Amino acid sequence: MPSVEVVFSPALFPFRSLNDNAVVVLVDVFRATSTIITALHHGAGCVVPVEDPNSLLSYAEKGYLTAGERNGIKLGFTDFGNSPLEFTTAAVGGRNIAISTTNGTQALEKVHSDKIVAGAFINIDMLARWLTEKGDDVTVLCAGQNGNFIMEDTLFAGAMASILHDSGQFEVAGDPALASINLWKSMGIDLKKYLSGGSHYKRLLELGYHKDIDYCLNADSAPILPVLQKGEFRVI
Ligand code: MLT
Repeated sequence: MPSVEVVFSPALFPFRSLNDNAVVVLVDVFRATSTIITALHHGAGCVVPVEDPNSLLSYAEKGYLTAGERNGIKLGFTDFGNSPLEFTTAAVGGRNIAISTTNGTQALEKVHSDKIVAGAFINIDMLARWLTEKGDDVTVLCAGQNGNFIMEDTLFAGAMASILHDSGQFEVAGDPALASINLWKSMGIDLKKYLSGGSHYKRLLELGYHKDIDYCLNADSAPILPVLQKGEFRVI
């Protein structure tokens, strides 16, 4: 039977228990993977995650739209920040996008896998169904914050691990997965209220992004599968 594990931050990725054959679900609920999923759901051709924001300029020269933030604040020279609400069909339909964010896109630098998919609450059920059909081991990798644990990604990981385990088709591998499941199941029903004490939630509120919070927690509003292929997220 395949297993599901949870890695609380990219810094811990080298210590994961599953091997390289596992599908890696990268999650940055607030907001990088929510934004990548939204852009593709609204018709972008591909989204290229880049570590160095300066390399966005060369993508702009090639006709890509550019997006990026540091600590939640839009980069001065990009077309978009990292608010998923900016990525409307009118703005991104048919266009390719390059994006650089504080934690979400940086996480990919630490991950060596040819099976990476972007996850967030907005595509959770579709993703869980796909993972169940595939039947491979699953590593849920939380983008975290500056190498550290963060609440919203861990709750997503707990929700995903719960769905997979409760299907009867996955074993739970390791204490981080067990802890994430317990956190998710003990949370009660109000995810937004539960997260309201979290550091990233508070920062987004301070920056005026309260609508982003609601959007990112709205389960299954963008049911697509963005898989990283040759450095580009594309819908499969
Ligand atoms: C990140 O990559 O750290 C984020 O997605 C930050 C944000 O946009 O709030």
